Amino acid sequence: MGLLEGKKGLILNIANDRSIAAHIARHAVREGASCGIGFLPMGNIEKSERRVRKAMDEHALGGAWIHPCDVSSDESIESFFSTAREKFGTIDFLVHSLAFADYNYLKTDEGNFTSTPRNVFSQALDISAYSLIALARAALPLMPDGGSVIAMTYLGSEKVVPGYNIMGVAKAALESTARYLAYDLGRKKIRVNTISAGPIKTLAASAVGELDEMFAHMEKKASLHRNIDAGEVGKTALYLLSDLSSGVTGENIYVDAGFSTVGL
Ligand SMILES: NC(=O)c1ccc[n+]([C@@H]2O[C@H](COP(=O)([O-])OP(=O)(O)OC[C@H]3O[C@@H](n4cnc5c(N)ncnc54)[C@H](O)[C@@H]3O)[C@@H](O)[C@H]2O)c1
Repeated sequence: MGLLEGKKGLILNIANDRSIAAHIARHAVREGASCGIGFLPMGNIEKSERRVRKAMDEHALGGAWIHPCDVSSDESIESFFSTAREKFGTIDFLVHSLAFADYNYLKTDEGNFTSTPRNVFSQALDISAYSLIALARAALPLMPDGGSVIAMTYLGSEKVVPGYNIMGVAKAALESTARYLAYDLGRKKIRVNTISAGPIKTLAASAVGELDEMFAHMEKKASLHRNIDAGEVGKTALYLLSDLSSGVTGENIYVDAGFSTVGL
């Protein structure tokens, strides 16, 4: 029997076949889960949907349903969750795998972080961190018997990673948000955890300055002397979404080949 046999969950958002969300969904479905998938409607919605469906085919997610969700809009979140209510009634897990910051402020140039304008700060924090509160609140009525919520973060929240800039501030807020949600929702048997992944080549990652240097640095310095792949994040997600982690909440688990533990 699969680790998530009979369980239903929501995974937001898939952009393309490289998205960490797609890798998590593949592992969840393989272990018996039924999934509803979110995607960001951009420009031509049919085109965005086609790209997501292609990624879903590649990850063998044929049985999952999809619905647009822009977390900067309360109406869009409500529409996504009303579809979830119709399709699933109740759910067992929620995966938050989305983030955004204006790439003009993700550069390694001197003074780039200091130049972050108020609206860029607010937008990054709103989409990348506040959204976890908004999605957890919307999921709450669908989780009468408890459940598991996970969100994706990165080491740039704790240490300066040149170029990660405002996204580092947003990830610090996301991690703290996860801990407060874990406490607030604990009596309802809802667990909330984060996964701190090492760098992976995705659309979001390509917005961050000097990504190739990060990959090279990981190979040189991480304990395992290599980079991680998104499938490894998927496997850790399975642990956090399943009963295997029933006693774990408010935690952050690194999937980074040991990089965060090395000082020099
Ligand atoms: N790739 C990495 O190196 C890495 C490392 C650690 C953490 N993460 C985190 O993993 C998560 C997934 O990123 P990814 O690397 O798979 O890249 P990705 O580009 O595939 O995923 C980012 C997702 O965020 C979505 N998004 C952006 N703005 C949105 C909005 N307003 N409403 C709803 N969705 C929105 C995009 O549509 C996309 O689906 C992010 O939180 C990212 O910060 C990534």
